[in-house]
Amino acid sequence: MKVEHLSVSYDGFLAVERVDLEVEKGEIVAIVGPSGCGKTSFLKAILGLVPYTGKIQVEEKDIGYMPQTDSLFDWLNCLDNVALPLFLKGIPKKEARKIAMEYLEKVGLKEWAFKNVYQLSGGMRQRLSLARALVSGSKLLLADEPFISLDAQNRRKLQIYFSQFLEKEKITTIFVTHSVEEAVFLADRVVLFSNRPAKIVQIFHVQLPKPRDVDILSNPAYQKLVGMIYEKVFQQG
Ligand SMILES: Nc1ncnc2c1ncn2[C@@H]1O[C@H](COP(=O)(O)OP(=O)(O)OP(=O)(O)O)[C@@H](O)[C@H]1O
Ligand SMILES: [Mg+2]
Repeated sequence: MKVEHLSVSYDGFLAVERVDLEVEKGEIVAIVGPSGCGKTSFLKAILGLVPYTGKIQVEEKDIGYMPQTDSLFDWLNCLDNVALPLFLKGIPKKEARKIAMEYLEKVGLKEWAFKNVYQLSGGMRQRLSLARALVSGSKLLLADEPFISLDAQNRRKLQIYFSQFLEKEKITTIFVTHSVEEAVFLADRVVLFSNRPAKIVQIFHVQLPKPRDVDILSNPAYQKLVGMIYEKVFQQG
């Protein structure tokens, strides 16, 4: 995945300004930056959901998307929530549900297939959203603050889960977060965006083995990097 000179503006109001970023296959990139700086706009441009200028090259046929607020439907059971993108593609229902069931199994929610989504916990909802994002076979995932709705303990559990899942399934990922710890915990690189319009201030490499687990929290290299990035974030104001 490669973007060159990517800019997004809404009726002349500039949200993203000339961002260049190349993401390798299997890489996990975190985007951090001030609220309202243009992070969601950046993801939406890659998805073709907002007008942009510049060049976007995506090799993957489908892009998996977890939007900032999950778009699960209460009137569909868990299985059909995951199968929905396949239904919309015109894949026959039986086949779509078979594929969706495989993805439910991947995220550990097979037993919940015929339950309603409002019966799920916050972390389970996010795993269901992950299954829906990837059900079309996508190996590129764009996730907008996927852990935001969770309490600290479940958030960490889901981060560990994501780290293992993305590594095992070889999913290239760009995710947005407000948490520097979370960015360093999960990513190979952390991209810091400036205040709006979003420009890249700096890119930090995280050289810690993947998948990650709680033991890295006490790793001096992890702590040093978190501190360094925080300093830069605060310089943004
Ligand atoms: N559809 C739109 N039309 C007009 N302006 C928009 C639209 N979407 C976003 N904006 C504006 O563009 C700027 C960037 O918004 P965006 O949602 O990309 O920020 P963000 O970094 O994701 O913020 P947050 O961290 O709060 O989610 C904001 O000033 C926002 O008001
Ligand atoms: Mg946003």
